[in-house]
Amino acid sequence: MRTIAVHGGTPLQGEVSVEGAKNSTLKLMAAALLAPGVTRITNVPDISDVETMGEVLAGLGASMTRHDHSLEIDATELTSHEAPYEMVARMRASISVLGPLVARLGQARVAMPGGCAIGSRKIDMHIRGLEGLGVHVETGHGFIHASAPHGLKGKELTLDFPSVGATENLLMAAVLAEGTTVIENAAREPEIQDLAALLVAMGAQIEGAGSPVITITGVSELHPVEHRVVGDRIEAGTFLVAGAITGGAVRVRGFDPRDMDIVLTKLEQAGCRVQLHEDGATVGCAGRPMAVDIQTLPYPGFPTDMQAQFMALMALAEGSCVITENVFENRFMFADELTRMGADVRIESHHALIKGVAQLSGAPVRSPDLRGGAALVLAGLVADGDTLISDIHHIERGYERFVEKMRALGASIEIRNN
Ligand code: EPZ
Repeated sequence: MRTIAVHGGTPLQGEVSVEGAKNSTLKLMAAALLAPGVTRITNVPDISDVETMGEVLAGLGASMTRHDHSLEIDATELTSHEAPYEMVARMRASISVLGPLVARLGQARVAMPGGCAIGSRKIDMHIRGLEGLGVHVETGHGFIHASAPHGLKGKELTLDFPSVGATENLLMAAVLAEGTTVIENAAREPEIQDLAALLVAMGAQIEGAGSPVITITGVSELHPVEHRVVGDRIEAGTFLVAGAITGGAVRVRGFDPRDMDIVLTKLEQAGCRVQLHEDGATVGCAGRPMAVDIQTLPYPGFPTDMQAQFMALMALAEGSCVITENVFENRFMFADELTRMGADVRIESHHALIKGVAQLSGAPVRSPDLRGGAALVLAGLVADGDTLISDIHHIERGYERFVEKMRALGASIEIRNN
C-alpha cells in the first residue's frame, strides 16, 4: 500500500507553479467531442483523472495522445455514443460527455454517476435542462438514455441551483441547438469561463459566461482549436495554505489571483500577509493564525473545494470559528481524521465548530477524498511528529507531483511503499 509520510515542523519557503485546472481540463476534453478534427489542449495537468477521461473518449472513438502537458484529441469520427458504467463509476466527471454527445450525435447513453464520499451528486438539473432543449431522456438499469433525433431547440432554462456540472453540460448541448438558449442562475466559476472561451474559439456564440445569465445562439457546426487550460486556483489555494499553516511564506505562480479573491481575503483576516502578483500570489504567516468563520458558496463565494484546507488552518487558530458547508451535504469526513490529530472540531449538521489548539500531533490517517487528503498533508506539515496518510490515490486524481512540489518548498515528506 502506498502512503504519504510527513514529518511536521518545517516552515515552507519558496516558489511553486500550479498546473492547468483539473475541473476545467476534464470538461474541455469532453467539449472536444463537439468539433470533428484534432483539438489541442495545453497546460494539462498530469493527473489520473485526465487519463480516465482519455479512456472515456477513446471508448467513443475519439483518440487522445499526450505530449508532456499537452493533449491532442482527434474527434473526427465518433464510433459510439455510450460512456460505460465502469468508467463513470471511476470518475463521475465523465457525465460531462452527455451534453456534447447529444449535441453532436443526437443521442447518448451514459451510466448514472453514483454518489461519492462528499454527497449524493445528483444530476436532476442536467436532465431537466436537456429535456428543456428538446432531448428525450429516459433512465433505467443505471443508465441515462438521451436522444434528440430532430436536433436540439434553444430555450430559456433556469437552474434551481448554480450547478457547475449542469451549467457545463447545458452549455455544451446548446452551442449546436437551433435558436437561442438562455441559462438563468448559471454557475460563474472561472472553469465555466474557460470552457466558454474554448467553445467560442471553436465558433460557438456565447454571451455572459461568468455571469448568472448565459446566452447561447446555436450554430450548425464547430471546428477544432488549440486552447490553454486556465491555472488551477484550488491547487494554488492548497499551496498558499501550506505556506500559512507552517508559518512560512510560499509564492504560487500560474493562476489568476482575482479567481481567489475571497480565499485571499479570508487568509488576510486570519492574520496572514498576502501579496498579489500578475501570475499568482504570496502568502506568509508568522505565528498562529486567527480564527475566521467561512461559508462555502458557489463562485464568487468561498469555494467548497478549499473548505478542508481552510479547516486544517483553523484547527491551529487563536480562538474559535464556524465553517459552514452549503454546497455538499456530506463534506466533513476530513474533520474526523483531523480530530485524530488532536483538532477540536464538532459537527452540527452542515456547521463545523472549531476551537483552535496550539499543536496537532502526527498520526496515521486516511484520505477521505481528494481535497480532504490534501488537507491531511497540510495538517501533517505542522503536526508534531509523523503523519502517515493512506488512500493517497484520491490525492493523485487531482494534484500533479504533490509530494515533489511540497518537498521543493522544504517539507519533510515522502511517498512510502509499505
Ligand atoms: C464540480 O462538481 C467540481 N468537480 C467539484 O470539485 C466542485 O466541488 C463543484 O463543482 C462545486 O464547485 C468537477 O468539476 C469535476 P455541482 P459538480 O453540480 O459539477 C447538487 C473537486 O474536489 N446538484 O455544482 O458535481 C450536487 O449534489 C470536486 O475537485 C444537484 O442536486 O458540482 C451538489 O450538492 C469535488 N443536482 C451541488 O448541487 C444536479 O443536477 C453542487 O454540485 C447537479 C448538482
